[in-house]
Amino acid sequence: MSTQFIDDLVAAAVRAPSADNSQPFQLQWDGRALQIRHAVRHPEYNVFGPDSHATLLSIGTLVETLQQLLTANGVTATLQWGSPDGQPYATLVPDSLPAAFTPVSAVLQRHTNRQPYRRDALVPEVLAATGTLAEGGNRITLLQDGPGRKRLVDAVLRSAEARFCNRRLHEWLIGSLRRTPAEVASGDGLDVATLGLPPGGAMLLDFIANWRRMEFLNGLGAYKLLARSEIALIAQAPVLLCLTGPSSSEGVLAAGQLLARVWMQLNQHGVAVHPYYVVTDQVSRLHDGTLAAGFEDTIRAVEGDLARQLGLAPGERLQMILRLGYPRKPVAALSRRLPLAELFRKTA
Ligand SMILES: Cc1cc2nc3c(=O)[nH]c(=O)nc-3n(C[C@H](O)[C@H](O)[C@H](O)COP(=O)(O)O)c2cc1C
Repeated sequence: MSTQFIDDLVAAAVRAPSADNSQPFQLQWDGRALQIRHAVRHPEYNVFGPDSHATLLSIGTLVETLQQLLTANGVTATLQWGSPDGQPYATLVPDSLPAAFTPVSAVLQRHTNRQPYRRDALVPEVLAATGTLAEGGNRITLLQDGPGRKRLVDAVLRSAEARFCNRRLHEWLIGSLRRTPAEVASGDGLDVATLGLPPGGAMLLDFIANWRRMEFLNGLGAYKLLARSEIALIAQAPVLLCLTGPSSSEGVLAAGQLLARVWMQLNQHGVAVHPYYVVTDQVSRLHDGTLAAGFEDTIRAVEGDLARQLGLAPGERLQMILRLGYPRKPVAALSRRLPLAELFRKTA
């Protein structure tokens, strides 16, 4: 089989999105099968373990991206999921491989756009096509106007307040920032040029980087101000997308597949996409006991509101919120990826 094809396939597939661009995966090729395994990145500040919701969602996006690349290249492949908590997460076995890899624009062009969007509504055909996508019990709800949409923005506000009071999440964000050209070239984390920060935003991040100082400022209400700035754009977006579905590991992996599918489709239609993971994450933290102290009642109320509003059955959850709209301008910088040697290993 063509090794060059596999090299090119993996180089394109790692464009899949992951939480804070952490790339928590390694692909392994043994000459017959491509395994997707967990990779530990930055254990000094990482908050997402191998079976965390954020990691499983990211693995799902990678599987979807690989499948779309293979299909577009005319390759049929068998997908085997691993055991829910074990490794590898998944294995793809292609039937045969062509000599040359054809790049796929939907994969290469998908990106996060954190800039303000135009206010005009999305083309109805695009909305209709988006709303019908589903995978493994996961579905999509689109909120445009009305009280439901307002309540969702309020859920983001309350969750962001809890998030800015959480020491480990603060250290994860600060650790993930990449400012200098050398840091950006390292290929992971959040290049500050992709964050769409207002003037002075990078300096503010520097100022609050130290947790002691942040804690002191939070005592004066800084977390409320920061949470308010967090909802400024989502409160104005023409459409909010909620991805909901089963809480099981299989359900979250499938949610990741659907996330990548809808994201690529929207970007191909010229619609900008900006994920807001904070609500999902705070609800996870409520259940695993890693919420900032004192926010339990707030986040329990957020979870209950969402369940009612989004019609969640027992065993279902919010997997992701996306802000959608037509971009005012293209993104200034695309985020990088780690060197392929850190993401890919060949054993044959
Ligand atoms: C599970 C998950 C959670 C994410 N959460 C957020 C978020 O809360 N805010 C945000 O701006 N981007 C979020 N992102 C987007 C990632 O930061 C982004 O995909 C990554 O930095 C790579 O950039 P790219 O999408 O432009 O390729 C999330 C992505 C995933 C897969």
